[in-house]
Amino acid sequence: MARCALSGLLLSSCGYLALALNDCQDGTCSAHFIQMQSSALKQTHPWPHARGSPPRQFGTTPEVWTSHKLSWSFHDPAGKYHNIFAGGPVIDQDKNLFQMSAKGVYAFNSSGHNLWHYDPPGISNNEVSLYGDLVLGSTKTGNAFAVNRKTGEEVWVTNLAKDAGGDCGYPGASEGVFVVGAEMGHDPASDGGNVNVFGVDAKTGEKLWEYGVDKPVWNLTPLFPGDGSTVFMDFAGGMYKLNLKTGAEVWKTLPETSRASFSDGGATLGPNGLVYTCSNFGENRGSEGTTGMVRAFRLDNGTQAWYKMTTMPCNSYPAVGHIHGVSPLAVVVTPGSFMGQENLHGQVLALNANTGEQLWRHDMKPYSGLFGMAAGDTEGSFTRQLEGIQQICLPAHWSAPMIDGDGMVIAGRSDGNMYKVFGPTESFKGTQSQNMTVDSGTISEKIPLGSAFLHGALAAAPGIFAISSCDTLFVFQK
Ligand SMILES: *[C@@H]1O[C@H](CO)[C@@H](O)[C@H](O)[C@H]1NC(C)=O
Ligand SMILES: *[C@@H]1O[C@H](CO)[C@@H](O)[C@H](O)[C@H]1NC(C)=O
Ligand SMILES: *[C@@H]1O[C@H](CO)[C@@H](O)[C@H](O)[C@H]1NC(C)=O
Repeated sequence: MARCALSGLLLSSCGYLALALNDCQDGTCSAHFIQMQSSALKQTHPWPHARGSPPRQFGTTPEVWTSHKLSWSFHDPAGKYHNIFAGGPVIDQDKNLFQMSAKGVYAFNSSGHNLWHYDPPGISNNEVSLYGDLVLGSTKTGNAFAVNRKTGEEVWVTNLAKDAGGDCGYPGASEGVFVVGAEMGHDPASDGGNVNVFGVDAKTGEKLWEYGVDKPVWNLTPLFPGDGSTVFMDFAGGMYKLNLKTGAEVWKTLPETSRASFSDGGATLGPNGLVYTCSNFGENRGSEGTTGMVRAFRLDNGTQAWYKMTTMPCNSYPAVGHIHGVSPLAVVVTPGSFMGQENLHGQVLALNANTGEQLWRHDMKPYSGLFGMAAGDTEGSFTRQLEGIQQICLPAHWSAPMIDGDGMVIAGRSDGNMYKVFGPTESFKGTQSQNMTVDSGTISEKIPLGSAFLHGALAAAPGIFAISSCDTLFVFQK
């Protein structure tokens, strides 16, 4: 037992503590422990994917922000509007950061030195992910690719379909299988996204399976609960669980009331056997004045555990974890409307992960961007046109939120600010300063970073918090 406890502690830095301790309780500790340790060693990247490290894709990090300061940033050498970034960085076990952009993949060490650059087989709007020594990605030309994370050398390229949507996806790998979307959708609700999800052998690039979805997947973000499956959401809030090795459907749950809706949000795992989604209701498509929907589904059989309507559209991904000053496990979402007009409302909302009841909310000052666009989009559009790249980033209202080790919520907003929401004012221990706001009993701080953010903007690793706007990567270090 003592050995188990010690092992648990050793493993905790990789996030495997809870699993190791559970295994100890059934009396077969050592056998399970050895297995656990080898699988933990294989995948030790702190932030290999936009929602975290499988099977803990909770949008949560054990790192505590407190003393991190901006240490370096990177944008195109010609000026920030000369490129456009896809999502945010991923971070490997050596604290190197990898950022996809309209001009290819950039790899940096933790002091900001550019290690290598890779030109993918086609323009990509998709954040890359890490798996072992590979950087995996996909392009608008329907290709998936793998690159060696240390050298930037191409390992394989596989064509999956004639094209792929221009949305910003977060493909990812686990248990040897890279899950990625391709073949652009043409649904009446929205043109784009992908109608097929593929399983590809991460080592060889061989296509293993292909699965046709009921409605297109938008910003496909596969989750890996660690039971040999992958789970993901379509743009109408429909949930799918597939066998990771074969692509066989384990279950699918398509909430009837929302099949005509559109959201570019998605799903996030919880540590409690549930998976949470942020999407829209009825025929709502994420615009100002419409409602959104947060749902919890059982991972084992797909049954909906609860739902909660939000007063603003739900267009991003939840984060699930413990938030400061509140005891129940929380699911945090960032409701807010799409761009295209003035006076856009946005909030950060924390719900009880077991029941859906509200824990707290923090409403932001309504945002009015230049010509109704996200910060940086109108400003950078002409430069990008001259560069021959996508003219605007067109992010949703918010990035996906991240919960840090102290229960603080961090998210980037379309107004070009990163916000830290500390939670209830009475449990806030710091000193209030300029750019802090109290709303509905909760306190937030605004950190101006210039341009808006895509869902996968945030990443964390020991001693590092990183956030990418649509044009600049900012790295904060201790
Ligand atoms: C990053 O690379 C530069 C150039 O090789 C080097 O000077 C620096 O020490 C490296 N930083 C880290 C943290 O390895
Ligand atoms: C899923 O499991 C729960 C709890 O055992 C049960 O109440 C529910 O009916 C199950 N749903 C299906 C579709 O089997
Ligand atoms: C507070 O926000 C303003 C812009 O809204 C900015 O100029 C200033 O630098 C911010 N202060 C801090 C400490 O971030």
